[in-house]
Amino acid sequence: MAENYVSLTEDDKEKASKLPIMDGTMGPSVVDIRSLYAQTGYFTYDPGFTSTASCSSKITYIDGDNGILLYRGYPIEQLAEKCDFLEVCYLLLNGELPNGAQMKEFVTIISQHVMVHEQLTKFYSGFRRDAHPMAVLVGVVGALSAFYHDVTDVTRPEDRYIAAIRLIAKMPNIVAMCHKYSTGMPFIYPKRKLGYAENFMRMMMGDPYDDYIANPVLIRALDRILILHADHEQNASTSTVRLAGSSGANPYACVAAGIACLWGAAHGGANEAVLNMLEEIGDVTKIPEYVAKAKDKSDPFRLMGFGHRVYKNYDPRAKLMRQTCHEVLDELNLNNDPMFKLAMELERIALEDEYFVERKLYPNVDFYSGIVLRALGIPTEMFTAIFALSRSVGWIAQWDEMISDPELKIGRPRQLYRGVAKRDVQPISSR
Ligand code: CMC
Repeated sequence: MAENYVSLTEDDKEKASKLPIMDGTMGPSVVDIRSLYAQTGYFTYDPGFTSTASCSSKITYIDGDNGILLYRGYPIEQLAEKCDFLEVCYLLLNGELPNGAQMKEFVTIISQHVMVHEQLTKFYSGFRRDAHPMAVLVGVVGALSAFYHDVTDVTRPEDRYIAAIRLIAKMPNIVAMCHKYSTGMPFIYPKRKLGYAENFMRMMMGDPYDDYIANPVLIRALDRILILHADHEQNASTSTVRLAGSSGANPYACVAAGIACLWGAAHGGANEAVLNMLEEIGDVTKIPEYVAKAKDKSDPFRLMGFGHRVYKNYDPRAKLMRQTCHEVLDELNLNNDPMFKLAMELERIALEDEYFVERKLYPNVDFYSGIVLRALGIPTEMFTAIFALSRSVGWIAQWDEMISDPELKIGRPRQLYRGVAKRDVQPISSR
């Protein structure tokens, strides 16, 4: 418990007046504390950054209380309905939706970069074949930095743009190879004429012997998953990419750091954890037992796919994913799928339970995305890698915005030191 307080509003109006308030276009204003230490000798203390805006950004806006998510001002519901993933990529990178000619040019440039250097494929064989795909992905995306280091001057906007294009273009290939390697199947080269999501599905699920026949409902569902996960302002992995990039490091190495952060079950690993949890619960009769475990403070178990740091209302992405989930299960005649029924019942019980209601713990996007991906035939351990594929555009757009910000400074938080105070080293004989 803090014993001393510094009042910046009542007792010390003179100092307070020197801490400016900054207003955004929407959302809470912020207190600019950059001169706080110089003025007062205090740092601020905010583990987990629950009250800290780490940067200013023009890319994504979230209103967690009202369940609103905007990319460059456009509501996620409209983007999910009216655009495809590559249009959303263009929007996130350039700030505006493309017109027909711009889109054509963008699709062409992406398709020119879909191949990976053949040498990159050799990295996979260095991994045990049972390695988790996220472990492989961290390594292979990090390795891209070795292929494009000398040609990437991060201070040049054109170099940053082409780095973004390369990443977006190659990620489907790299992620699909993670899957193929783990199953011992041959890598499938991309096909330039196919759409982004279809190309990825073909590289994941196809083989060299038969034509891959795409189901448009399933391709659209995957495309929607990509749109919904494309960016989410300053979440843990994006902040990781920004922090790594703030030193001027190679962008692919920074994105590899973001992938490492995303892997955790509290973040992107949740979609895999949801499916594992549903499998563990196994039957609707067991739900009360698991809900009780989630509420028990002496038990570390949490209901995966519930709760969010920012959304204290229904996650708008979860609403859209829920709808996609129904479409996919209808298309595949899987409406009686026991896992889906179990998920629906778990959602119903949790939404009525006082513990979850009081804490505003609603289902998040990963509660449904796992069920959709499973219905598409994608193995559970690939779920977070697919999240990484879609979030790559958000990471690289945020990285580019940070590097071009004239206020860029290397990220360097301070701390509250609670270790031993200064003391002298004693000779080993007297310790
Ligand atoms: N099950 C049971 N209790 C929970 C859960 C949950 N899933 N989430 C939060 N709580 C409780 C928590 O124990 C705490 O209770 P109390 O106030 O009594 O101590 C309260 O709710 C607030 O939780 P918190 O941990 O302080 O909240 P946070 O903002 O630090 O954590 C979270 C957010 C997403 C890490 C957390 O809700 C969680 O672990 N959820 C499960 C994992 C998950 O689904 N993650 C995916 C997030 S969406 C995808 C993404 O953006 O990456």
